[in-house]
Amino acid sequence: MTDENRERLQKVAGDLGIGRLSRHIFLCADQTNPKCAPREVTNVSWDFLKKRLAELGLVQGEGCVYRTKANCLRICEQGPIAVVYPDGVWYHSATPDVLERIIQEHLIGGKPVDDFVFAVSPLGGQVGNLPPIVNRPAK
Ligand code: FES
Repeated sequence: MTDENRERLQKVAGDLGIGRLSRHIFLCADQTNPKCAPREVTNVSWDFLKKRLAELGLVQGEGCVYRTKANCLRICEQGPIAVVYPDGVWYHSATPDVLERIIQEHLIGGKPVDDFVFAVSPLGGQVGNLPPIVNRPAK
C-alpha cells in the first residue's frame, strides 16, 4: 500500500469517527433472505436507528457510536436482531421502540436493556456492570 493510499484510508476513518468510538451496534436489516423478521420491519428499524443516532449527536465526536447494517446475524428468529460491541449484548425484537430504549439506556447510559437481552458475550470476556461511555443528556 502506498503512503498516499494509507493516508486516504486514515482520512476516511477519521471522518467516520473511528478512533473515538464508544460502541458499535449491528442491526440485521434489509436481508437477502429475511428470516428473523420481514424486510419491511427490519428496514423501518434501520432507518430509525440511523435517524435517532444522528438526531442525538451520537455519530460524531468523542465517544460516538458506529452503526452497521448486517445482512444476517445468524440468529434468524424473533428479530430484528441487534448486537452492541464491545459489550457483546444481543437483543431480540429491535423495533424502533426497543431501539429507542437501547440508545437511551445502553448506548448513552451504559446499562443493557435486560427486557430484550437474550445473550451476552463481551469482547475481552468481562461480564458485569458497564460504565456509561457516552455521557450525553437524553433528548
Ligand atoms: S435474518 Fe436476521 S439474524 Fe438472520
